Amino acid sequence: MDLAVITGAAGDIGVAIAEALAGAGMQLGLLDKDGNALAKVVDRLRGAGALVTHHRCDVTDRADIATAAERISTDGTVSVLVNNAGGITSASLQSTSAEDWHRDIALNLDAAFMVFKVFEAPLIETSGSVVNIASVNASGVYGHPGYSSAKAGLVHLTEFMAVEYGRHGVRANAVAPGTVATQAWQERAERNPDVLEAARRWYPLKRIATPQDVANAVAFLVSPAASAITGTCLPVDCGLSAGTTALAATFSQSPDFDG
Ligand SMILES: NC(=O)c1ccc[n+]([C@@H]2O[C@H](COP(=O)([O-])OP(=O)(O)OC[C@H]3O[C@@H](n4cnc5c(N)ncnc54)[C@H](O)[C@@H]3O)[C@@H](O)[C@H]2O)c1
Repeated sequence: MDLAVITGAAGDIGVAIAEALAGAGMQLGLLDKDGNALAKVVDRLRGAGALVTHHRCDVTDRADIATAAERISTDGTVSVLVNNAGGITSASLQSTSAEDWHRDIALNLDAAFMVFKVFEAPLIETSGSVVNIASVNASGVYGHPGYSSAKAGLVHLTEFMAVEYGRHGVRANAVAPGTVATQAWQERAERNPDVLEAARRWYPLKRIATPQDVANAVAFLVSPAASAITGTCLPVDCGLSAGTTALAATFSQSPDFDG
């Protein structure tokens, strides 16, 4: 039985990934810095029959990661790692302090490196699979410079993992969601209750992704169906990275693009 570690597992996307991987028959080791929220998630998953342990862990703290990894090693050998924990601080470069910048890089890039390193040996032993949750912000300017720069780094780190560990059969891929309605939008929704409706309009599919959409991509990438896929970054963005209809309409002056 695969043992999958998921970070940020108490968040909306983390929960969906946990449910999808449990549904694929995997045992789970869940990490989150919010121990209470994680315990509730675990109760639900156990109620649905999942084999799961949970560990309060700040993934920016090396000692916390080491302790969690030691505990998880008593459950089995980790063969799947999903680096999902992430979050934003400041919205623009002008509003970014040095502390904000370091916080964003620590959570969205450094943590994925440190968690990978602590599970490197079991991933090699099992020819395992890593999925790093990046963002469309990795390849375009949509605000949040520290976060976006970290996610761009995370995509490159994914390529490094794939190229360097491929000889051990380890696969590494990233998933780049566009907007997903989660707790991460709460603060922006408080400032503008229509923010998610406004976001929808920019997407070619005229909708935003759900946590389940992201989880489906993760479940595919760690499955044997993706055994020849490594080093890639799969957008789950309702078409945003392909283009926006509003820009195409302006540049082409064709009504065919109006959305
Ligand atoms: N929601 C979106 O629109 C969106 C878009 C693109 C990418 N993403 C990415 O998806 C991932 C999940 O985001 P979400 O929207 O579910 O966020 P969320 O805020 O709902 O959940 C994030 C979870 O991570 C946990 N966390 C935060 N800091 C942590 C730390 N230091 N150590 C351990 N756990 C920590 C939080 O407690 C929370 O449970 C993130 O990497 C995010 O960048 C989200």
